[in-house]
Amino acid sequence: MDQLSKKRLVVRLDETESTNAYMKELVRKKHPEEGSIVIAEYQTEGRGQRGNAWVSAKGENLLFSLLIYPKDVPANEQFIISRIASLAIKNTLDQFADDIRIKWPNDIYWKDKKIAGILIENDLQGNKIENSIIGIGLNLNQEVFPPELPNPVSLKQITGVTYDKDYILDMLLREFFLLYRELEEGNTSTIEDEYMRDLYRANDYYWFEDAEGKFRAKIENVLPSGRLVLRTLDDDDIRAYAFKEIVFLNE
Ligand code: BTN
Repeated sequence: MDQLSKKRLVVRLDETESTNAYMKELVRKKHPEEGSIVIAEYQTEGRGQRGNAWVSAKGENLLFSLLIYPKDVPANEQFIISRIASLAIKNTLDQFADDIRIKWPNDIYWKDKKIAGILIENDLQGNKIENSIIGIGLNLNQEVFPPELPNPVSLKQITGVTYDKDYILDMLLREFFLLYRELEEGNTSTIEDEYMRDLYRANDYYWFEDAEGKFRAKIENVLPSGRLVLRTLDDDDIRAYAFKEIVFLNE
């Protein structure tokens, strides 16, 4: 990773509560360089989105948190970091499997199964992001998942190959920083376009559910704020949703 500072920290842990939590403490105590990472073989309290747990078998998958200090990303446009992280994972996985898509806002899917999740914790200062901790859980080599997980899949289940975690991590960081440089150069529209192109369940009508009930709609756009814009089938209505306000249905 030649473009990254030689002084960045790389912390490797056998076990920790959560790499995001560990990184948060590191930031508080040491303010490490951009590009620093914390990688763990196992998390005792891995965190997912919506307050869910992230469960991953010991030693089999990639679990890490990456630290960046984005310049000039306004709080109301912080979703650009999610787009970059999602695309970095997708671009990495594309080199091994077909049919990898980004399920809004930032789940990575293979067909109808989830292969990776992202938990981004941004520290805001005023109206700007001061630092961003990007936690990534990528199912690489796990072959058996607990039945309570809704629809997991690993890269090994797709291809039959066992992957070297460091090799994949290196690729993923390379993809991430290529896109991150685009952001630093002000090319947000390139990133937004690429994200829209790679979205799961785009270009057709699907079932969704909001507080009012079920309806069929097509994804129209994802706004800089991260809100999902849908066009309803019945009345051609345009509606925008925040993450917790809408559910994709499998109907
Ligand atoms: C999701 O729910 O989809 C997000 C999952 C994010 C999991 C990763 S694993 C590494 C990092 N540390 C955590 O505690 N969570 C993230």
